[in-house]
Amino acid sequence: MKWTPTAIALALSAPADALLRFPCAQLVIDRLDPLVTPGTAPSPHLHQILGGNSFNVTMNIEKDMPKESTCTSCQFSEDFSNYWTATLYFKAKNGTYKRVGQKPNVGFDGVNGGMTVYYMQDGLYNFAQTSKVTAFKPGFRMFVGDVNARTPEQIERFRQLTFTCLQDMNTRDPQTLDFPTKPCPAGIMTAVRFPTCWDGVNLDSPDHMAHMAYPEYGTFESGGPCPASHPVRMPQLFYEVIWDTKPFNDKSLWPDDGSQPFVWSFGDGTGYANHGDYLFGWQGDALQRAMDSPCYQNCPTLKTQNAAAMNKCTVPRVVREDIDGWVRELPGGHQANYRK
Ligand SMILES: *[C@@H]1O[C@H](CO)[C@@H](O)[C@H](O)[C@H]1NC(C)=O
Ligand SMILES: *[C@@H]1O[C@H](CO)[C@@H](O)[C@H](O)[C@H]1NC(C)=O
Repeated sequence: MKWTPTAIALALSAPADALLRFPCAQLVIDRLDPLVTPGTAPSPHLHQILGGNSFNVTMNIEKDMPKESTCTSCQFSEDFSNYWTATLYFKAKNGTYKRVGQKPNVGFDGVNGGMTVYYMQDGLYNFAQTSKVTAFKPGFRMFVGDVNARTPEQIERFRQLTFTCLQDMNTRDPQTLDFPTKPCPAGIMTAVRFPTCWDGVNLDSPDHMAHMAYPEYGTFESGGPCPASHPVRMPQLFYEVIWDTKPFNDKSLWPDDGSQPFVWSFGDGTGYANHGDYLFGWQGDALQRAMDSPCYQNCPTLKTQNAAAMNKCTVPRVVREDIDGWVRELPGGHQANYRK
């Protein structure tokens, strides 16, 4: 897949009939993971979480808990899903760590941190978005990535978990599977694309991945068909997170051996362990409706809210620890691991 700057410029200015692309503000930064370690507070590592305010230590699959939300930090106010990823840290020469903040994408000014979420029916540059997809069902959840991966070989089975070193806010190429090796003037963008083929039965699976699969050949972007084991074609769910690394771009702050200083909140300093979590929570048939009459940002079939309303939807942190100061170890006791 080759993304040219021209294609990106087109995507950003795409007219009415294109893909569902919207900002979500930060709901909370907390050491919780109701998908991988439900009922456990603190969870092994720190996350940034977005979406519906019913988010909690446990998200019961039978209860369709997103329904209990009274607000969402996402632009579409019928979307009570929860979206989360690890957070990013900078490691100083003196061995202490500082959390890296986030900033919104171009055009989403005023949104507090968070990420950009996409649901696509076709490849990013197929603006018509006419293919049929089946929306996720209540209770549906999934994970993609490998927290323990430290080499490219270990993530070959995942497609499209990438980093982009932003020269400016519109840079989209090149994409790498590991952390950029040089300071990135406008920040680091991480992208998390989930598999798109569902087994049609299970809302979850023991590893939170086996109920989903990639297309049999090619990619979702190239229109590859779903395998017989996972025949139901779902939307391409895709997160873009922009880490505001600018405060840490002074090369004199970087390690003298020429390595890069950023590290995931669970200690991965290679970047290969980029991963994401999703818990479906759209109200009623709102997502299916949007998928059946595609739209770009201004979606006639969906209710939207402004940045102030998105930013206002937050939940208190459950795990009390220092997530803003310089700390001697990453929350949960992790140290940076740059081994490849
Ligand atoms: C979160 O869960 C805990 C215990 O499971 C419960 O006591 C608390 O009320 C829940 N919080 C919200 C906001 O629902
Ligand atoms: C460690 O280095 C950072 C960045 O230079 C600095 O802000 C911080 O105060 C230092 N902490 C200690 C304990 O020296």
